[in-house]
Amino acid sequence: MLNLLHPQLVHFPIALLLTSVALDWAGLIWKDKGFDKAGWLTLLLGLAATAFTILSGLMAAQSIPADSPALAALNPHRLLGIITFVLFGLQAVCHWRNRAGYTTGKRILHTAIQAISVAALIGVGYFGGELVYAFGVGVSALAR
Ligand code: HEM
Repeated sequence: MLNLLHPQLVHFPIALLLTSVALDWAGLIWKDKGFDKAGWLTLLLGLAATAFTILSGLMAAQSIPADSPALAALNPHRLLGIITFVLFGLQAVCHWRNRAGYTTGKRILHTAIQAISVAALIGVGYFGGELVYAFGVGVSALAR
């Protein structure tokens, strides 16, 4: 059941994790604690959504044969999915440990981790799209 939900669930981590970074950066620019708080909550929701998405993805991948050409997209997709979770998790730990305020150096490090996390998330989406639209994984019939 959860395996069939992967294409539905994927939208939540993409939207929530990207929004969390946008809100955090908005807080930096406008020095508004409201943005920070909203970014933090969105990050936590995004991490929860990512955990379910990874679980559903791992289950969906069971149906792909070990010699399938789709592995060319599945392997980087799975790896980047897990890296994305770890990187956004790291952001949550950084945020919590520096909740009293960042030093300039730590803020730069946090922003760098955010940029790398966003790149990883874009990569996950790219290879997920390849799985479906280039290799036809999960597609039962062509609509012509
Ligand atoms: C950050 C976590 C993840 C995100 C955001 C994500 C995103 C996506 C996206 C956007 C697609 C294309 C869906 C479509 O166009 O309908 C997709 C497909 C797919 N993903 Fe993921 N994915 C994640 C993690 C994983 C993991 C860890 C696996 C395990 C191997 C996985 C396996 C699959 C499979 C097998 C498909 C093909 C469609 C299906 O069978 O459901 N995904 N994913």
